[in-house]
Amino acid sequence: MDKLLVHGGKKLQGTVHISGSKNASLPILAATLLTGETCIIRRVPDVSDTNYMIQILTALGAEVERSSGTVRITAGTISHDAPYEIVRKMRASICIMGPLVARLHKASVSLPGGCVIGDRPVDLHLKGLEALGATIDMEGGNMHIEAKDGLHGQECDLRGKHGPTVLGTDNMMMAAVLAKGKTVIESAACEPEVVDLANFLNKMGAKITGAGTRRIEIEGVEKLHGVDYTVIPDRIEAGTFMVAAAMAGCPEKGVTLNRVCQEDLKPSTAKLIEAGHSVEFNAKGTSCTVKPGQNPKGVNIVTAPFPGFPTDMQAQFTSLLAVTPGISVVEDTIFPQRFMHCAEMSRMGANIKVDNGTAVIQGGKKLSGAPVMASDLRASAALVLSGLCSEGTTEINRLYHIDRGYENIDDKLVMLGADIERVRE
Ligand code: EPU
Repeated sequence: MDKLLVHGGKKLQGTVHISGSKNASLPILAATLLTGETCIIRRVPDVSDTNYMIQILTALGAEVERSSGTVRITAGTISHDAPYEIVRKMRASICIMGPLVARLHKASVSLPGGCVIGDRPVDLHLKGLEALGATIDMEGGNMHIEAKDGLHGQECDLRGKHGPTVLGTDNMMMAAVLAKGKTVIESAACEPEVVDLANFLNKMGAKITGAGTRRIEIEGVEKLHGVDYTVIPDRIEAGTFMVAAAMAGCPEKGVTLNRVCQEDLKPSTAKLIEAGHSVEFNAKGTSCTVKPGQNPKGVNIVTAPFPGFPTDMQAQFTSLLAVTPGISVVEDTIFPQRFMHCAEMSRMGANIKVDNGTAVIQGGKKLSGAPVMASDLRASAALVLSGLCSEGTTEINRLYHIDRGYENIDDKLVMLGADIERVRE
């Protein structure tokens, strides 16, 4: 297992290029199963989660070639049976269910377990597929989904107790594109990654309207075709570098992020400005420069579905607020258990009390490097950020978490002036 040594105290400056979105790439890669024609997907980040998805597509029978961010997939003859050994490695594997049932009228996929950020049930995914006429049997930890007479368009409300579901909306949308008749998804997720998937499907010949709103309408079509598509920039990677700039940026020059989407970054931008930092976008909204403020102050954050503040940025902002003077309160309403990073940050000197999905941060503490354990993807990023402005060396173990979703994060930070070593074991 690799580990990262972050020698703190260096000031960051320069330009970083943001990669394509991991969370947009995963369902888009799965959606290539909807056609036997060749799809070319560009700017797919080279991270382990996209590699797992490619392994699944290959195991199902698709021909896949990957070269520097471009993935070429032809899902000619495919199987409905996803191998447990690969599926179990990544929860997002479940977004192959929709395309498989749509194209083959059946799918066998193992039931994902819980994970460190919460229980992560799949009831809403199944509700969507059942509404379209599929039957579901559970056996030996696997879900067998079948629609003997094909899928039929239907209206379905996908709201759960924590709000809408991103991959659940994706699954129902992908199932509905080849269903007979019209499907309406109420309480749909509005995240930019859902919109990107809808744009991809429409380019393949689907008829989807309303993506990005709470009501998505899908008119089923007979067939989809191959396309050439470029995924959107990763708003969470961008947000993470924005926080890095606020925490450890050179005050005069700051850090410039290229290939971003201003609209998708609104919640993180607003909180950074509220906390006293400077964020300036170019006229096109495709690049921004972040400089640390002279008088930063604590802020309160409540995570919410898009356009609210993303749960995937909660850990990184908690790291920022730990070194920001004042008291900040951070509540995660989507994944109330997603606070494992706080105990690790406390070992570095942060003062954070977590109770019932809420962290109360007594900010402005000087952090000092310590050996810490990464618990999930965004928690690992938060520990790297804490390490950047700590005295001494932070040793981050279980680095595979960060490699699931950040493309070369250590190299990108080193290019900005950070002192980071990857120790390969
Ligand atoms: N939920 C249910 N039932 C379901 C599905 C979800 O109750 O059937 C609940 C969840 O437990 C959670 C809430 O609904 O409380 C929202 O979960 P959602 O389904 O939206 O999460 P997801 O689609 O599985 C995606 C991202 C996550 C991100 C969440 C929330 C991908 C591959 N994953 O997961 O990203 O945190 O949306 O925005 O797109 C990450 O990148 O680090 C990450 C975890």
